[in-house]
Amino acid sequence: MELNELVKIRRSVRAYSEERVKEEDLKEMISCAQMAPSWKNSETGRYYVALSDEAIEKIYESLPDFNKRSSKNAAYIVTTFKKGLSGYVSEGNPSPEGDLWGSYDLGLQNSYMLLKASELGYDTLIMGLRDSDAIREYFAIPEDEIIMAVIAIGKRAAEPKFNPRKNLEDILKIK
Ligand SMILES: Cc1cc2nc3c(=O)[nH]c(=O)nc-3n(C[C@H](O)[C@H](O)[C@H](O)COP(=O)(O)O)c2cc1C
Repeated sequence: MELNELVKIRRSVRAYSEERVKEEDLKEMISCAQMAPSWKNSETGRYYVALSDEAIEKIYESLPDFNKRSSKNAAYIVTTFKKGLSGYVSEGNPSPEGDLWGSYDLGLQNSYMLLKASELGYDTLIMGLRDSDAIREYFAIPEDEIIMAVIAIGKRAAEPKFNPRKNLEDILKIK
């Protein structure tokens, strides 16, 4: 599918059918995420997927009520990054922004993943509000990883609305 079309199809979806994402498709999405650029090719993004009924229930329970409602029936991808690598000039020697670059790299990876999901016919919802301690405990996520998004993944049960964007002039300066 052409990029402009993919970008248009990808919307935050807040109503999912009962059709569950296939494991091989998840692997394809995360392989695509790996193709994103990263600081010194450090690839510090990590992915924890809740695909079984038990795991989905655990992650569902870690969400605030409004995110529970929005992601009902979906599976979940928890995305994290390893601290102390991306954004570091050498071991223990951070650039001015330090670990913010790890977050930047993960965002790049996650957007590749989301677009691949759209190409494969899936829908997604990034959720920043969740109980990260409960998620860390369930997946045994090491302390040197920062938990970022929980991403619902499934197939839309209703058409999402388009959220309008700012005017280009409001965000761009060219000299
Ligand atoms: C970092 C981040 C955190 C977000 N957290 C939530 C969330 O907790 N719940 C939710 O419903 N949407 C969440 N969203 C989705 C945004 O509201 C959505 O991307 C934005 O309104 C633009 O709409 P669109 O994705 O349909 O283009 C989040 C998006 C991002 C990038």
